[in-house]
Amino acid sequence: MEMTPFQLANNTPLSLSPNFVLPVNKRPNLLNVLPSASIPIIDLNDNNIDDGQGPSPLVSKISQACEEYGLFHIINHGVPKELCQKTLSVVRAQYVTKDHTKQAKVLNYYQKVQKYEGIEKVKMWNETFSHPWHHTEDFTHLLPTNPPQYREVFAEYARKIGELFDRLLSLISRGLGLENDCLKRRIGERPRLNCQANYYPPCPDPELTIGLPEHNDLGSIAVLLQVEGVTGLQVIKDGKWLPVDPVPNAFVINLADQIQVLSNGKFQSVRHRAVTNKLLPRLSLGMFYNPNYDTVIGPIEDLIDEEHPPKYRKYSFKEYMEVFYRQEGKRRVIEAFELPP
Ligand code: OGA
Ligand code: NI
Repeated sequence: MEMTPFQLANNTPLSLSPNFVLPVNKRPNLLNVLPSASIPIIDLNDNNIDDGQGPSPLVSKISQACEEYGLFHIINHGVPKELCQKTLSVVRAQYVTKDHTKQAKVLNYYQKVQKYEGIEKVKMWNETFSHPWHHTEDFTHLLPTNPPQYREVFAEYARKIGELFDRLLSLISRGLGLENDCLKRRIGERPRLNCQANYYPPCPDPELTIGLPEHNDLGSIAVLLQVEGVTGLQVIKDGKWLPVDPVPNAFVINLADQIQVLSNGKFQSVRHRAVTNKLLPRLSLGMFYNPNYDTVIGPIEDLIDEEHPPKYRKYSFKEYMEVFYRQEGKRRVIEAFELPP
């Protein structure tokens, strides 16, 4: 069965069939995107005067980025450049394989569609696959076997990204004035770890389509690796779309809804989208660190006082996801959990 509608593996010119065309008021309006971005770039080596307690310059920078953007680049993050490049190449090779149906059961391939009122579903200009990951347990027997290096490369990448998440969660906790391990404990001993690879082929008309429509990630935090030299990711800042252009040897760190709730609204979940471009294909790999369904989420008690009443009620992550599936994108899921001021 042919699963790649974009025919990544050969050079057939792509055409924009009508089922990819967005309604006029949902188009990305690319001329309105600001030309350059001021997204923070944070150097994780900026830690030399850090004693591991209280705010350090690094903690303050991260905290400011989490408040103002909910997204930032990190450099000198400790994951070797060669490993990142190898990971992107096995992911790319996985797209080209022709035997997706014979692959591991945990591997999901899909092409996203979006519902808009009053019209047929519109296809997104994107091909996605996802599977779980883990940084401590041996999960590699669950991973794809194609290309042959996939398991080995991905397992090493997952181990490194696991360490990075520990570090980030600790820095973000301290940015909230909390103990190092606070967020990790609150997200739970058994987080739901998933990765998502996004492939965006060159698009004949980027003004008419979208790679991923605007959204907030629903979990807690993501580490995104994107190929260098190809733009596509954008975030909303003060009502304007800003490009998050790839920074060499950097990851994009993306805060999602559960961090906004746990921080009682101090840190933002970032609203973002991926647009397409005409000449170059784009590939990104998101590693997601989410609560499992049983985890109870609510504003962390230490952040609540008379001046800072809770902005959200408590819920299980399962309930959050149920609301998401029910709302079908009509409004932000988080609004269903807001408490009156
Ligand atoms: C996502 C996402 C952005 C990108 O997978 O949730 O927002 O750059 N990806 O592909
Ligand atoms: Ni996203």
